[in-house]
Amino acid sequence: MDTPIWTSPRTNAPKVFFMTKKDNKSIKVVLPPLKKILIIGGGGRENSLAWALSKSPEVLKVYVAPGNGGTEDHSNCYKLNIDDTNSDELINACKSLEIDLVIIGPEKPLAAGLADVLRQANLVVFGPGKQGAQLEASKQWAKKLMVEANIPTAKHWTATSEKDALQILNAIQTPLVVKADGLASGKGVTVCNSLTETKAAIKEAFTGKFGEAGTKLVLEEILKGPEVSIFAICDGKNLRILPPAQDHKRLLDNDEGPNTGGMGAYAPTPILTKKQLQMIEEEIMLPTLKALIKKEIDFRGVIYAGLMLTDEGPKVIEYNCRFGDPECQALMPLMGPELAKVLQSAALGALEIGPKLLPKDILSVCVIAASSGYPDNPRKGDKISINLEEKEGLPIQLFHSGTTINQEGELITSGGRILSIVAQGTNYQNAFKTAYMALKKIDFKGIYYRCDIGYQVRNNEPSFE
Ligand code: AMP
Ligand code: GLY
Repeated sequence: MDTPIWTSPRTNAPKVFFMTKKDNKSIKVVLPPLKKILIIGGGGRENSLAWALSKSPEVLKVYVAPGNGGTEDHSNCYKLNIDDTNSDELINACKSLEIDLVIIGPEKPLAAGLADVLRQANLVVFGPGKQGAQLEASKQWAKKLMVEANIPTAKHWTATSEKDALQILNAIQTPLVVKADGLASGKGVTVCNSLTETKAAIKEAFTGKFGEAGTKLVLEEILKGPEVSIFAICDGKNLRILPPAQDHKRLLDNDEGPNTGGMGAYAPTPILTKKQLQMIEEEIMLPTLKALIKKEIDFRGVIYAGLMLTDEGPKVIEYNCRFGDPECQALMPLMGPELAKVLQSAALGALEIGPKLLPKDILSVCVIAASSGYPDNPRKGDKISINLEEKEGLPIQLFHSGTTINQEGELITSGGRILSIVAQGTNYQNAFKTAYMALKKIDFKGIYYRCDIGYQVRNNEPSFE
């Protein structure tokens, strides 16, 4: 018979583990049962997480709040119509549904302190509290942490007024990256090609384009090199690194057009060798976690480091405090059924008790279909037709982001990024071919997707029309 025991005095998070008698002499500490999970968020990241976590043999139900039009397409996944700002209702739902683990997907509720509120209600939560979420919610805070911990990053200056910012620019006399300090839905960064552009970006930020997020600016030197997204699952003291992923942030082919939340991804990216990934773990990810510990922050969630591989080695261009989207969608099919218990062990501050992560030895790719007008003003409310044959057995997944079901029961567009096809293969050429063929079977007015996702790793066919 399993007996609850209590460990770890670190935070007010619940820390109930179970001990099982292995034989007469020794005991084994194991994790509590994990039958029901609640995922908070409504994008493709949450849709793919729900799909992956429902594959754990122990998990009976995965709820997603508020979810989207695709939540209930996955077996054992259920949509809850509760907004992430309504913590009372979320807590009530967790209690009445007997939720064993809550996973918070997006940065906004994390930055608003939802994880703290849920932990105070004695729930087991994967996602950092408000303090830890500063990694993403304040670029200045994150920069300070990097400087203190000697983590390689771009040189930077902060400014709280247009006058200060222009003075800094005047002294440096070189084009800069202009970043709003706070959360700006991926739109707060301008990489400037000239002094005139830099001046214009500074002026624009201080006219209130980013609201409260832009009242302080971080100005950065421009780095050059390919980018890579690294995710570490953290339990407050240890971490586990996922396969490295490559995102495509620009809207248009050839990495042109405005920055978006991400138009496609693939993982693992061959851009890093195992040795380089280990170096990144030792010289960037672990020092980041140690710096958080030094600030007495018990970070239980994902540290996402956006890196640029420069001639001087990898440098951090930004941190996020959650899984990246679309990278998460590409990564989920690489995860085994142990993922749910790994996230639970991290939420309990005890990765060492959880299973080992065993990513599959295959490649996974994701192509996002967006609505015309994305990212500034996407058209919404159009019917979506999906003519994919039986997906069972095929190495593809359809994940929804900005979709909803209208009163007539029809699936319609309701956001910027609408849905994605994720496909696996033993080589990138085939995996992308499968994904692009499947995309042809999906339609809605104004559908748009990049044709060159993965151009970095495709040899013969750089673009699928
Ligand atoms: P962020 O939101 O900070 O990730 O920035 C969005 C994008 O802007 C990044 O993915 C990079 O492509 C670019 N970027 C940000 N910082 C720099 C930098 N210091 N040098 C060059 N490009 C940058
Ligand atoms: N894919 C970039 C992000 O999630 O911020």
